[in-house]
This record gives sequence, structure tokens and C-alpha cells, in this order.
Amino acid sequence: MSVTEPIWTPSSWRLLQAHHQPAWPDPALAARAVERIRMMPPLVFAGEARKLRGALAEVAAGRAFLLQAGDCAESFNDFSAITIREKLKILLQMAAVLTYGATLPVVKVGRIAGQFAKPRSAPTEIVDGVELASFFGHVINGDEATVAARTPDPERMVSGYHQSAATLNLLRAFTKGGFADLTQVHTWNKDFVASSPEGQRYEEFASEIGRALRFMAACGIDLGSERSLHEVDVWTSHEGLLLDYEEALTRRDSTTGDWYDCSAHMLWIGERTRQPDAAHVDYFAHVHNPIGVKLGPTTTAAEALELADRLNPDRIPGRLTFITRMGAERVRDLLPPLLRAVAEAEHSVVWICDPMHANIFKTASGIKTRHFDAIMAELDGFFEACWGEGAWPGGVHLEFTGEDVTECLGGSATVFEEQLNHRYETLCDPRLNARQSLDLAFRVAETMRQRDAVPSRTA
Ligand code: PEP
Ligand code: CO
Repeated sequence: MSVTEPIWTPSSWRLLQAHHQPAWPDPALAARAVERIRMMPPLVFAGEARKLRGALAEVAAGRAFLLQAGDCAESFNDFSAITIREKLKILLQMAAVLTYGATLPVVKVGRIAGQFAKPRSAPTEIVDGVELASFFGHVINGDEATVAARTPDPERMVSGYHQSAATLNLLRAFTKGGFADLTQVHTWNKDFVASSPEGQRYEEFASEIGRALRFMAACGIDLGSERSLHEVDVWTSHEGLLLDYEEALTRRDSTTGDWYDCSAHMLWIGERTRQPDAAHVDYFAHVHNPIGVKLGPTTTAAEALELADRLNPDRIPGRLTFITRMGAERVRDLLPPLLRAVAEAEHSVVWICDPMHANIFKTASGIKTRHFDAIMAELDGFFEACWGEGAWPGGVHLEFTGEDVTECLGGSATVFEEQLNHRYETLCDPRLNARQSLDLAFRVAETMRQRDAVPSRTA
């Protein structure tokens, strides 16, 4: 920071243009809610964010893989131990498939414990002939189609904080308390998945892991004392969209004096709020968490470099993740120039692929969906583009649910268009169901296995 630059504070973003922020009907009430959250304990602490940054540095170096996944929008209504456990199960299953299948450490980051605020393409929508404010996520307004529900209510930020705290508490208990123990690998297979082809494949695979563990024990390795077999780190993340809320949880780390956004371990900047001179980029440039940025099809190489310069001027490995979402048809053309520019500028970036957000379409009957084949096609294009440029394809960013929903089409146990109505429960974007998620993990693990056969420019 130059000497002439004014001292930064967590509220400095207010001097800049902040896109996609709610119009609270009474700003004084919003200020009071921010003040109350500011007095509450942080949800994560700086040392954890630094530990995640270290894990992501391994991804940046091509020695690990990032699995970032969870809901499009968490719900205040569908909030229970069961929904948290079911999401965790599928995350652990996918991570096990990737770790064992691709023989790589997998950094596990949930879109969870705070993924509430949504940017929308239009501020209003017409429902049954009535114009209503769009649904902006439960931390801002309600999803019910009434004027009252859609009115932004700052009290929801306080509820969002408490729900995040409770979710994180259970996640910590599950991941450190035995549920994520690798000897439990069979129990993560859910009833409705177990009978499907992916579920059966997973069963065989879990048995193989069991055999590998018994083999190691037979060789004399003391598995009981190996912490990494019994506990895992599952980190939290969400889109850092609602700056009132992020500001309220921004704290100065007592050991380093640096600012951290203590609402989650990792935050990302969305495709619609990544303008280099606007509030979001400025805010995240000043907090020290690992930061992601979504890069959509309009991103130029110059923009990617400007973001890297602003968000990671010291080129710290693991600090910056670019989450590309180009679309299945265009990823092979649009991604290589970005990869090349970042490599030539010698920036350290983790590249991961979000194959969800540029592959959305509406069916003839108006249902928002994605096709599993398009999701896989974007992933294939991402891997090819990275390998072609000698970059490390560092991971995937997905929207899934542990439930047996019918929101995305296709997959090996195909969901057909006429079935979308059966269980279409998402508050926002269509999510992969548990079977589709597992299917995807097996396919990505197979692709990663081929990596040794692919020539790399940097190797
Ligand atoms: C999202 O991740 O839910 C999202 C809104 O993505 P994007 O910013 O890439 O459109
Ligand atoms: Co989404």
C-alpha cells in the first residue's frame, strides 16, 4: 500500500460502486444489523484461512486437486442435521473417488455455511401478472411470491449468521468426530444411490479402499495413529456478494495484524461483481483469505491479469483461484488465451472449472436446467485446454445436493425432461443430484489418471 493511500477499513467499499447490493427499505435498520453481527464471534479464524491457503498452494503447484461444491443457494427453510449430513456424505464420497482414483490429495471446500446471497440477472420478475422483487437469497429476502416476502429484511443477515454458525458447528463435529473416518467409506453410500450403477461402482471402489487399508495394516503401518485417515478438513466458502454482511465479519488477526473475512475460509467474487475498480474487488484485495474469482466467457486476458495484479500483487501461491465458467462449446477457444497470459506474467493462480453456470438453458416448458453431457463436455474442454497450455487443471466447482432431486438432465441413470417436475426443489440454479455427482467424480478421476500420458509445456 502506498503512503498516500487512505487507511483501509472494512467499510471502505462503501465509497465505491457496489453492484448487486439490496435496497434495504430502512438503511438505519441495516446498519444496526451490521453492528450487531460485528459484535458477534467470528465464524472462522485467520489461522484456518491461512491453512487453507497453504493447501491451495499445493494445488497451484500441481500436487493436489480442489473439490469445491455445494448448494447454489442454501435455504433457511430446508435446514436440518440431515441436509447437512447428506451434503457432506456426497462431498466425502466424491473426494474419496478423486483421491483414490486420481491418486492426488483433494482439498475439500463446501459451498456451505454461508452460501445465501444471489446475484440475479433482473431485479424484478413477473409472477402471475404481478411484478415482484427477484429472490436475492434468504439472507436478503424470502422466496415466496408475495410483496411482503420479497421485501429485503436486514434481520435476515443475523439469521444467516446463526445458521452458518450452526452448520459449521455440525460440519466440524462430523469431520473431526468419526463420521469422515476412512473406515466409514461404505456408510457414505446413500440408500437411493447404492442400488444405482454409480452406487454399485462406488461399493466396489469402497471395498478396494478397505483392502488397501488392510494391506497397509498388514505391512505394519499403525493406521490408528494416522490422523489423516480419521479426520478430514472440510473448508467453507460462499460468494462474497453481500458486502454489509462480509464487512460485519471482517476482523483483524491478532497475530499478524492482517484483515480477514471471518465469515468463511474462502470467498469468491461472482461473474457479475468482478469489475476491477468496483467495491467487491477492492474489498477482497484487502482481506487475506484465499479468494476465488469467476471468469465467464467475456473475460479478456487483460482483465484476468488486472484481477491477478489487484488480488494477488505479491503472487502468493494459493491466494487466488480463477474459477472459469465458459460454456461447453466455447471453453476450448476462450480459456487458452487466459491461461497463456497468466503464465507469461508469471502469476500464481489455481485454475478450476465451474461447468455449471454457462451451461444453463430453459426447456420448452420454461424450466431452468443443465444437461449432464454439457457439464462433462465443459470439464473435458477445461482439461484439454489446461494440458495444452501446460497449466495444472486444479479442480472443479459444482452445484450439487445430497438429495435425489431431478433438476439437471441426463447422467447414466438418465433424468428426462418430463421428469424435471418430479423433484425440482432448488431455490435458484439446478443442481446435480447425488448419483450425477458421483458419476461426475468417477469420470473426472479417470480423466486425471490420464494426466501422466499428456505432454506438459512446463514439465
Ligand atoms: C453461482 O456460483 O451461483 C453464480 C451465481 O455464479 P456466477 O457468478 O458464475 O454466475
Ligand atoms: Co448457481
